[in-house]
Amino acid sequence: MKFDSAVRNEKTIGVRLAGTGSAVPEKVLSNADLEEMMDTSDEWIVKRTGIRNRRICDHSKEGAFTLARDAMSRALEDAGMEAGELDLLINATVTMEMSCPSNACRISDALGAAPAGAFDITAACSGFVYASNLADTLIRSGRYRTIGVIGGDAMSTLVDYKDRSTSILFGDAAGAAVLTADEDPQRGCIYQKTQANGKNWENLYIPRREQDLLEQDSDFPLGNLRMNGREVYKFAVNKFQEVIQDALTETGLNPNDPSMYICHQSNLRMIESAIEKLDLPRERVYVNIDQFGNCSAGSAGLCLDQLRKADRLPDGEPFVMVAFGGGMTWASSVWIP
Ligand code: UT7
Repeated sequence: MKFDSAVRNEKTIGVRLAGTGSAVPEKVLSNADLEEMMDTSDEWIVKRTGIRNRRICDHSKEGAFTLARDAMSRALEDAGMEAGELDLLINATVTMEMSCPSNACRISDALGAAPAGAFDITAACSGFVYASNLADTLIRSGRYRTIGVIGGDAMSTLVDYKDRSTSILFGDAAGAAVLTADEDPQRGCIYQKTQANGKNWENLYIPRREQDLLEQDSDFPLGNLRMNGREVYKFAVNKFQEVIQDALTETGLNPNDPSMYICHQSNLRMIESAIEKLDLPRERVYVNIDQFGNCSAGSAGLCLDQLRKADRLPDGEPFVMVAFGGGMTWASSVWIP
């Protein structure tokens, strides 16, 4: 049949996680630092979020672009590949520095990836899982062999450090992966969901123009992240558990089968709640929110890199990734590395 080869690809091509990398700024912003800047306390922050420190860019020399560039460069080094071997570069971010060119095009230029296709996607905190799911699907289609995936955000550019309800949460980071075609079709992403519901977008938004502001937010400074923390919490705590449960059910895995659960780091209470409700093995649910805060699209990729470098993603054993965020968006996947 005329289309045999295209149909066959999905079943014959696997995807190998060839390398990972990450980058965080050197500067640490601790709860004690925040106590000096606003009316808050280490005790409140730790109890409500689990966060103790976050990394913040020195904006004179760093930003979402430099973090993402460095993360990708390290992922290529880990993979033993040159940027010129990439067919595509997908960068997930809400902190693109210019609307044109994309951060992805600047990363391509800095690393020498041309003529690989390069584009940014925006799915807020779900960005890295969205981008990885997309990359796996594109490689399995047979049309692209090697794809660089990055999640990178400099949330410090979107936070008003007078707003204690958001500034305590966020940090800056980027995580990256190089995915490449593999002859074993069992390898790579064996399950994925990439979903959204725009209905409640107003619970987390970044207004750029006067007309973007909701009526009740008319005094809010443009360009900053506006969040209804309680509503986002309710959405995320439920979605978090739902998507993990779906991933386990649909792959026939039980909670003890995955070697690791890589979860978006938005609030330690949400992670604890999922561990308890789904009876997940605590030691396999990775947590770094205490040291890095919520890094938006940077969180999942940073966790992935830290786990791979610590040899905690054994070959052939499934691991789970889940994330959720503004939009509202959510995504999940199960990978066999
Ligand atoms: O990645 C996706 C994006 N975002 C999230 O996942 C965030 C989801 N939401 C959350 O994690 C939580 O809603 C927060 C950590 C943001 C807030 O925790 P909360 O338990 O929902 O607190 P709240 O907003 O209901 O505020 C409770 C109280 C309020 O005081 P009153 O009205 O009870 O007197 C706030 O004014 O805590 C006060 N408060 C603070 N106090 C000290 C809010 N922020 C602070 C603060 N320090 N930083």
